[in-house]
Amino acid sequence: MFLTTEKIRQIFLKFFKNKNHQILTGSSLIPHNDNSLLFTNAGMNQFKQYFLGHTVPKIKNIATIQKCIRVGGKHNDLNNVGFTNRHHTFFEMLGNFSFGDYFKKEAITFAWELLTDIKWFNLDKNKIFITVYYTDKETYNFWLNNIGINPKHIIIIYDNNNQLYNSDNFWQIGDTGLCGPSTEIFYDLGEQLTGNIYQNNLGERFIEIWNIVFIQFTKNINGEIISLPIKSVDTGMGLERISSILQKVNSNYKIDIFQKFIQYIAGVLNLNFYEHNSLNVIADHMRSIIYLISSGIIPDNEKRGYILRKLIRRAINHGKLLGYQNNFLYKLVHFYINEITFKEDKKYLKEQYNFIKNIIHNEENNFNLILNKGTILLNNELKKLKNNILDGHTIFYLYDTFGISLDIIKNICQKKNVQIDYQQFKIYLNKQQQRSRENSNFKNKINIYYKKQISKFIGYSTLSTKSIILNIYINGIIVSSVNKGNTAEIILDYTPFYGESGGQKGDIGYLYKNKKNIFQVINTTINGNIIIHTGIVIQGIFYKDDNIIAEIDIIYRNKISKNHTATHLLNYSLRKILGNVIQQKGSLITEKSLRFDFSYLKKITQEQIQNIENIVNHYIFNNYSINIFFEKKNNITLNDNIIYLKNEQYDSTVRIIDIGNFSKELCCGTHVSTTCELGLFKIIKVLNIAHGIKRIHAITHNYAIEYIQKQNNIIKNIVNIFKIDEKNIIEYINKYRTKNNILQQKLKELELYMSKEIMKKILKNNIILNNINIFISGLYTFNPELFNYILKNIISKFNKTIIVLSTQWNKKIFIFIKITKNIININAVNILKKHINHHIIKVIGDSLVAKAIMNINEDEYYIFISKIRTSILNTINSLY
Ligand code: ALA
Repeated sequence: MFLTTEKIRQIFLKFFKNKNHQILTGSSLIPHNDNSLLFTNAGMNQFKQYFLGHTVPKIKNIATIQKCIRVGGKHNDLNNVGFTNRHHTFFEMLGNFSFGDYFKKEAITFAWELLTDIKWFNLDKNKIFITVYYTDKETYNFWLNNIGINPKHIIIIYDNNNQLYNSDNFWQIGDTGLCGPSTEIFYDLGEQLTGNIYQNNLGERFIEIWNIVFIQFTKNINGEIISLPIKSVDTGMGLERISSILQKVNSNYKIDIFQKFIQYIAGVLNLNFYEHNSLNVIADHMRSIIYLISSGIIPDNEKRGYILRKLIRRAINHGKLLGYQNNFLYKLVHFYINEITFKEDKKYLKEQYNFIKNIIHNEENNFNLILNKGTILLNNELKKLKNNILDGHTIFYLYDTFGISLDIIKNICQKKNVQIDYQQFKIYLNKQQQRSRENSNFKNKINIYYKKQISKFIGYSTLSTKSIILNIYINGIIVSSVNKGNTAEIILDYTPFYGESGGQKGDIGYLYKNKKNIFQVINTTINGNIIIHTGIVIQGIFYKDDNIIAEIDIIYRNKISKNHTATHLLNYSLRKILGNVIQQKGSLITEKSLRFDFSYLKKITQEQIQNIENIVNHYIFNNYSINIFFEKKNNITLNDNIIYLKNEQYDSTVRIIDIGNFSKELCCGTHVSTTCELGLFKIIKVLNIAHGIKRIHAITHNYAIEYIQKQNNIIKNIVNIFKIDEKNIIEYINKYRTKNNILQQKLKELELYMSKEIMKKILKNNIILNNINIFISGLYTFNPELFNYILKNIISKFNKTIIVLSTQWNKKIFIFIKITKNIININAVNILKKHINHHIIKVIGDSLVAKAIMNINEDEYYIFISKIRTSILNTINSLY
């Protein structure tokens, strides 16, 4: 029976449901409160707290299907995509997990049963190979004796280069963090394919289908491996890979969902074939692109948005490699959502269809403009080449700044018989990759394992508390103390400091010890379950285990809280004016202002902006109270009209901020108690930051008043300058503008008239020497911008010409020399330089055109011009 990919997903879930696992949905592609990961890269990510033993789940055995992105970070498959049959930037991971319950034997038995039992996937047992970490004797023996695997089919995998734990069979979430030995299950596709499972599994013959990891450790920043209190199981089976085996095709790109999509893409690109690396890449990248945009990421020049942009550009470049020059990616979205996605994703993707399509289309338009510029530049560079080799720097520039793929550069060069200096290009590329690794914001500076739930945040109600310093870090390294003048990161057991999250900036404040020792906290962030206080010791010294007082800056916090409550009111009011179609795409709440990004395709009028402002202010003036309560996430229904981010991951119990019983939002941030504390709300800017994404900047309280006062002062100044009544200001400015336009027009006419008159005068004073026409003029109060007009008219009338135009304008002397090409041995810039004195401001030019600006008085100006005149005439006389 043919098993569709959709069916395979269902069977997997059914199997683990039968084995008493709780089935949970996968988490968002954007990890929640976790700056150690760029994207969700494995099914286990959402359960980090369970593995660490910080939180004990009610049900210890869970199964999920997790969407994963592997671009950037430790698990980065980007460079393999398109060149192997198995790698993807986006894929779904089928996983079962046990947190301190079952372990090796059960995990192996489950996997074996699902894969080989006739009731389930019924794979041929003889085609299965196993790899085991060399120290894990228990696993080896279990496969051998209890499962009965042929010993020739069990391969022991050692450490690479004898570096402990540096092995394919020792899995790590990232460079630091959860890890443990693994056993992997491979499927042999047959001797007709090349492949060697013993050596890094080279070739296409053996496919890794299931990775079973026994999470027992966590690795800290110093590379130390620390044992965890519980032993857990984390497994991952790539849906696309298992589907390729069950559907008996030799590539993931040939399974039902990919084939259907690739055939469609080929149709859009007018191709009559379906097998091509570039088609695979486009299909793969489109899946990442669609899911990333639906998770709230928009193309950008940094962080996650940069990866999205990179994927879109790579997909476009592969379209070009297939000979298609027009925009096409946006045309694929409708088909993918309607024909390929699985049932559980269809609804929310359909809701976002227009948005996703428009973002992609816009990005394609922009990229094509950049590409055109880059291609022109490349062609110009190729024309200039002397040795038929394009240097690495130029290639890197085109690749990095214009995003032109190396393949496209190679293609263009090949057509012109030009070779490329790949080695030099690689050096530039490596340097850049090194830089971006160093600048990465996703480096986990602090990653230490804490045995119990730590950094308890008590700052909703407490603003100052006694606390103990659990650890001090300087540059990510644990130290025992920090003294005056040094910056450090401090971890406390209890803290009133809110760590930056949910768009709200972290708190600032002080840590005190005996009043004599003071640590100033300049920022607070969250990493997993630790809250990091970053700051500087301004007095005394702090030690690990010190008893201290932690006190936040109340005024600062209060300002932030006002802006957070205002953000909720804005979110609610936007929906009233623009409709429920808007979707929050991000926010930034600081003590000074708030910023709110949301999707909305239409233009927002000035009237709508005012209405939004009015509604928010109405809520402020009516002084509604703010109530905060907790609710089980599962109890929330659509009818409750609670606003929350669709792709955000929330705990099972959620915190709800209820303003006046109308605005309800899931939120962890801090808020004021009544709306009147906001004082006043003012929108100061509405921007389009990407196609279909608007950004509102707004302010509250005294910042709003100050802003209005400033605006008012501007108006008062205008009124004073023009001595008019405030009421008539617009009318006056309009009239003023019209008058000004008329004057400008008249001035132009006048200048033209003057130019013509001056031309006549210059032409009259024409000197002809040795067949060369020489025009030398010394003008007064004539705008040097008009030189061009005179020049054009003179040059067009005469053949061999030297023109010297000069004028006194705005208390400066402007001088301009132009010599036609057919006159040799006389150099414009040299003439100027020869007679220049210390009053010169600027001289530029070459042998044919030169300009200078000087600070000289009228007498000197005369002398200067006559010197130039003599010099030119003498030179011409002596030359001919
Ligand atoms: N977390 C393991 C992996 O990603 C299962 O391979």
